[in-house]
Amino acid sequence: MEIIGTQIEKHYHQPNLYNDIINRLKELDVDLNTVTRKDIAAVDEFHVRGVEVSRELAKIANINNARLLDIGCGIGGPCRMLADEFNCDTVGIDISKEYVATASKLSELVGLSHRTKFINGDALNLPFQNNEFDVVWTQHVQVNINDKLKFYSEIDRVLSRNGAFIYYEVFKNGNEEVNYPLPWADESKISFLEHSSKIDSILQQVGWVKKQSTNQTENGIKVLEKMHNRLSKRGVPRLGLNVLMGASTKDKIANLLNGLKEGKIYLESGIYNKKVVCKDI
Ligand SMILES: C[S@@+](CC[C@H](N)C(=O)[O-])C[C@H]1O[C@@H](n2cnc3c(N)ncnc32)[C@H](O)[C@@H]1O
Repeated sequence: MEIIGTQIEKHYHQPNLYNDIINRLKELDVDLNTVTRKDIAAVDEFHVRGVEVSRELAKIANINNARLLDIGCGIGGPCRMLADEFNCDTVGIDISKEYVATASKLSELVGLSHRTKFINGDALNLPFQNNEFDVVWTQHVQVNINDKLKFYSEIDRVLSRNGAFIYYEVFKNGNEEVNYPLPWADESKISFLEHSSKIDSILQQVGWVKKQSTNQTENGIKVLEKMHNRLSKRGVPRLGLNVLMGASTKDKIANLLNGLKEGKIYLESGIYNKKVVCKDI
């Protein structure tokens, strides 16, 4: 049987992704010499509510000027936004070679290569020094991670003392099965939905303190409903998350939306801080 990492990479793989995006921009009459983040915004953040929710999280966490690692960075939209709007020095890591290559080229295209770096690698074996980052950020990635303890232990290792961990994830409610395909998995074998309380107990075990969390489900449902109606009425847009989700885009959105509405899964964001160990003088 194929190892999980390979299956995940296959799930997300879209051949010639960068060229595909470029061709779509041309069809939309975008001048390729002056492409901005706004021109690619419909495709570059692969989570419910895109840049809007990323911006909200960055504001709440107050992460200006941070050295930031985005784990499972996709094609790099969140890193570019955090570099551009919050002056962060960002590194994104992703298991998909195609996504990492696309992320680097998109950063070049919009003039953000100097503040964004993208590396191909596995979240379970981060190629970074201990305490290297002020902030670790991850959105809709933990759903593909089976070994949660290893995932959060690696984050803990690379996060500096007093560092912040920011997440935005899909969690399960109860134990009812969700329907597939979903944006992160065509079938259950690469989907590892967990209760946020379980994750919280792992994070406490790792030694972190929860600063805040927000249930994002209602806002997510509103956006997914709009997206689903648009797909039903007008089909797929020229440039949108359909470029990443492929032929089953509509089914993936419908299953995610229904899972949220039926209460089988929910969306939550939050911030944890590393516990500061005070030594007696
Ligand atoms: C739903 S996408 C979200 C992408 C990005 N976080 C965003 O919000 O735009 C999930 C991403 O996690 C990546 N991923 C899944 N498992 C991973 C692992 N073990 N190590 C690194 N990246 C992983 C996938 O390749 C994919 O790019």
